[in-house]
Amino acid sequence: NINQKVDSLLAIMTLEEKIGQLNLPSAGDVSTGISTNKGIAKQIKEGKVGGLFNINGLDKIRAVQKVAVEESRLGIPLIIAKDVIHGYKTTFPIPIGLSASWDMELIEKSARIAAEEASADGIAWTFSPMTDISRDPRWGRVSEGSGEDPYLGGQIAAAMVKGYQGNDLSAANTLLACVKHFALYGASEAGRDYNTVDMGRLRMYNDYFLPYKAAVGAGVGTAMASFNEVDGVPATGNKWLMTDVLREAWGFDGFVVSDYTGVSEMIAHGMGDLQQVSALAINAGVEMDMVSEGFLSTLEKSVEEGEVSEATITNAARLILKAKFRLGLFDDPYRYMDEERASKEIFSAENRAVARKVASESMVLLKNDDALPIQKDAKIALIGPLADNKENMVGTWSVSSDISKSISIYDGIKQFSTNPENVKYAKGSNLVADPELEKRIGMFGKNTYRDDRPESVLIAEAVELAKNADVVVAVLGEASESSGESSSLTDISIPDIQVNLLKALKATGKKVVVVLLSGRPLVLNEILDDSDAILNAWFPGSEAGLALADVLFGDVNPSGKLTMTYPQNVGQIPIYYSHKNTGRPLEGEWFQKFKTNYLDVSNEPEFPFGYGLSYSQFEYGEMKLSSSDLKADDKLKITIPVKNSSEKDGKEVVQLYIRDKVGTTTRPMKELKSFEKVLINAGETKNVEFEITTEDLKFYTYDNLTDQNIIHTWEAGEFEIMVGTNSSDLKSETINWTK
Ligand code: IFM
Repeated sequence: NINQKVDSLLAIMTLEEKIGQLNLPSAGDVSTGISTNKGIAKQIKEGKVGGLFNINGLDKIRAVQKVAVEESRLGIPLIIAKDVIHGYKTTFPIPIGLSASWDMELIEKSARIAAEEASADGIAWTFSPMTDISRDPRWGRVSEGSGEDPYLGGQIAAAMVKGYQGNDLSAANTLLACVKHFALYGASEAGRDYNTVDMGRLRMYNDYFLPYKAAVGAGVGTAMASFNEVDGVPATGNKWLMTDVLREAWGFDGFVVSDYTGVSEMIAHGMGDLQQVSALAINAGVEMDMVSEGFLSTLEKSVEEGEVSEATITNAARLILKAKFRLGLFDDPYRYMDEERASKEIFSAENRAVARKVASESMVLLKNDDALPIQKDAKIALIGPLADNKENMVGTWSVSSDISKSISIYDGIKQFSTNPENVKYAKGSNLVADPELEKRIGMFGKNTYRDDRPESVLIAEAVELAKNADVVVAVLGEASESSGESSSLTDISIPDIQVNLLKALKATGKKVVVVLLSGRPLVLNEILDDSDAILNAWFPGSEAGLALADVLFGDVNPSGKLTMTYPQNVGQIPIYYSHKNTGRPLEGEWFQKFKTNYLDVSNEPEFPFGYGLSYSQFEYGEMKLSSSDLKADDKLKITIPVKNSSEKDGKEVVQLYIRDKVGTTTRPMKELKSFEKVLINAGETKNVEFEITTEDLKFYTYDNLTDQNIIHTWEAGEFEIMVGTNSSDLKSETINWTK
């Protein structure tokens, strides 16, 4: 069995070789952090490398594996990792888009396909899923997560782990998954990347921990420590987090890797020198050191000085070796290098068809005043800085995507039009006015978008096309590099130059459909009145143009729903649906003095969590409850008829929320507890059923306020049961649940 094999191997390893297994350098073919350059082949020969990432290409991967297996003393294979985040070559929508599909089967399938492709191309381990809850759209990395809600985030985390790891990690077409970034990375202050996090324990447990825990429950093999501090101690050195919570309370049995230079970054956090922070990390329960080389260069000394025990290092090496055995790397170190499978399965027509379907399911229709769908024979003026662009279709963290093969919006629309000559394109504006900002946005990629002609000339050209068209499709929003790592923004509104363009297009009197490309919720108030329809397309992936055309021309009826609240302005942030009531709630009309509200803008979001329109119309009937008085072991059945009163078949995400009206600690106004995505044919009524038990009423609270031990429990009393089409538009009934 694996444990015996690992023990036999550990028995012949030197301390230095064990430490070598804990080292994860970057090969540097892809930049996912500040570049570090080392003689990696030499290190591998010396047994100083446990795994390698950011390496591109089967030949290269085979070559480094050969060095490890044939030239190091013990021939221990490397574990090869990569950021396979939303697909491999076949690229799916960015994760926040994926989450907007609310379709767990499709999400799992997207991860399965990513695993099949990457595992043929030399990769055994992916740094995904990213399950950081975030309620601050200024943070660029909201694009990589599943939004603001812990319940939905947990469902998605589990689906992705299942997709990557399958039922059998030793199968050659599965990947080891990595839940990240543990923990609370999404709560960095002011949405500035890598910034301080400060949060009470109840909020950690109730709002932020659940998706990580769900990934552990689904059997995730590894976890990545986050860059931020957690209650005053950086996560990478936080023993409470890594050992007490992750390992002991949740039963995680895989290994923890730091983030890129996460160990050495603790020096800047003020936790000591490289030797001290390395000891802190391994003693906390971080087994692998990504890029810092703190473990490699200091742990032997720390053992000599008694700061780290040899047993701690042996245990860390054990967990990493165990993962390598589970992956089957000792049976065949080249098993994830399969040229034949790579040539057949990567970017196959079948995989691309799934990517197209997922992309169309992820799009969210925010507004539609009879402008969509568009007739296939319509004359279309396609306008916008990214409308004829392939690079931007796949979005952030798509390091394996071949952007030259992705389908631009222009190409996709032309393919659908009965006469491609009917589709005319003009750029219309630059993305942002300030060239310096544009440079900063594009820094990590190679893209340049700038057109040096004056704004008025660009607009005039677009208006000319609009005048001769039946309908205008204006592709607005942000570039793919405007979101993602180290891409925080303080202003998330549509730039003035794009607003000016839209106003000029609207002034032609033609219907204007806005297609929004974005990696985050944007502030849309400047474009709401001047657009007849708004379709939020995120970054749809390699099949972008076709998926968009599917929705724009009505072959696919949009069914995506927002997984983050859209604010009216930046000042409302953080804004999220599951807020608490406060002692001075605003009930009734805004504004009221001495109530919790703003002078200048109401408390309402622009678009609430769970919101999204369809080409169908859905009518919710009366909710029926199996009982309104329940006892501990009872199950509550909730049934609601939902009618599609339109002439178009469509899918609706029916959402169930509860409110626990009285608690020993304060409870949110609403919490998502279940949802169903149902297809309802034209004219049909479906009875959608939910069932909840006291398990669904549980929350984390203190056993008593003095000791502040956290318990997971439910408390008897009144609950509001709410069902509806989004978090702001709900039918409600009150029940009583007693012990
Ligand atoms: O996986 C990523 C992580 O999300 C951010 N820093 C770099 C890592 C490896 O590329």
